[in-house]
Amino acid sequence: MYALFFRLVFRRMDAEKAHHLAFRWIRLAARVPVLRTFLAAALAPRYAELRTQALGLRMHGPFGLAAGFDKNAVAIDGMAMLGFGHVEIGTVTAQAQPGNPKKRLFRLVRDRALINRMGFNNDGSAAVAARLGARREVFRTTVGVNIGKTKVVPEQDAVADYVTSTERLARYADYLVVNVSSPNTPGLRNLQATEALRPLLAAVREAADRTVTDRRVPLLVKIAPDLADEDVDAVADLALELGLDGIIATNTTIGRAGLRSDPALTAETGGLSGAPLKSRSLEVLRRLYARVGDRVTLVGVGGVEDAEDAWQRILAGATLVQGYTAFIYRGPFWMRAVHKGLAARLAASPYATLADAVGADSRKVTS
Ligand SMILES: Cc1cc2nc3c(=O)[nH]c(=O)nc-3n(C[C@H](O)[C@H](O)[C@H](O)COP(=O)(O)O)c2cc1C
Repeated sequence: MYALFFRLVFRRMDAEKAHHLAFRWIRLAARVPVLRTFLAAALAPRYAELRTQALGLRMHGPFGLAAGFDKNAVAIDGMAMLGFGHVEIGTVTAQAQPGNPKKRLFRLVRDRALINRMGFNNDGSAAVAARLGARREVFRTTVGVNIGKTKVVPEQDAVADYVTSTERLARYADYLVVNVSSPNTPGLRNLQATEALRPLLAAVREAADRTVTDRRVPLLVKIAPDLADEDVDAVADLALELGLDGIIATNTTIGRAGLRSDPALTAETGGLSGAPLKSRSLEVLRRLYARVGDRVTLVGVGGVEDAEDAWQRILAGATLVQGYTAFIYRGPFWMRAVHKGLAARLAASPYATLADAVGADSRKVTS
């Protein structure tokens, strides 16, 4: 049904306009008590066997919404209503910014992919902090807060920019993500080099500890799939060295290999997400798990389209899995299908719990 709706309505609209329309419906539905209760029951059934403990937090399932969909934290309950086990808001920057000029989001339908060069359009960390502070939670869910660098701030001042956002947002974050991997902010990905990343992560850690004294806010870093393998290893080693809580692998890619869509579309500048990202994201995840094992929580994202993809990420070492692009293509029943399929795979597997399945394939390879 959604496929037909997508073809007849969303596909004919500009991609960003379609996003805003769907977003508005989700937010509206979440505001009407009877409707949201009905939708949550229909779209987000709970499976006891999928309950997940990660980053010291309890979630009803391992599958959550990747950053970029709810940049300004305006639809957390709506996304929880649709069945996401956690919602990562952002990327939020210290200063509000409009992002890149439109048009900046493109559908590559034949590739089940998107290209975006949104450029961190967001209300800024002061406004988002105020919104999170005023939020009255309807559905209990885990809220990750993803922060990035303000575009006009020069690279050498990046640390202070991230620290400002940390000071404003850490208290509202169940976990905090340092995003250094979007291709749409010039120079941002240079911060993935360990010489730049070490002081950045240390400063954010310090700022989080200074501003939130009643608990330890888990800190993660989100990396690009375009890192060379040695650089992936270097981030893994740095995570161990700094006692980082997690790594999110991966963001979008600047690569364009193997696409079938119209070359005029594939030539658009920006980050490519969806199906074409699947194999590299999985590869990066495997590489990380081989290096850090269970010592750092891994979050698998990039080209996850169905329960089988999510299951493969778990077997490869992901405790949590996220998605974005497939949600656009598959619609509101997608999260239910992923959770149902995961429960079925777990039941058919030799593993007693989901936690036992995490990294099982990678462990087999190395043993
Ligand atoms: C339109 C769009 C905007 C995005 N914005 C962000 C962002 O602000 N911060 C971020 O960390 N990732 C962002 N991402 C990347 C996603 O969080 C995710 O890492 C990536 O899309 C791969 O997952 P997918 O293949 O399931 O979409 C964005 C992705 C898309 C498609």
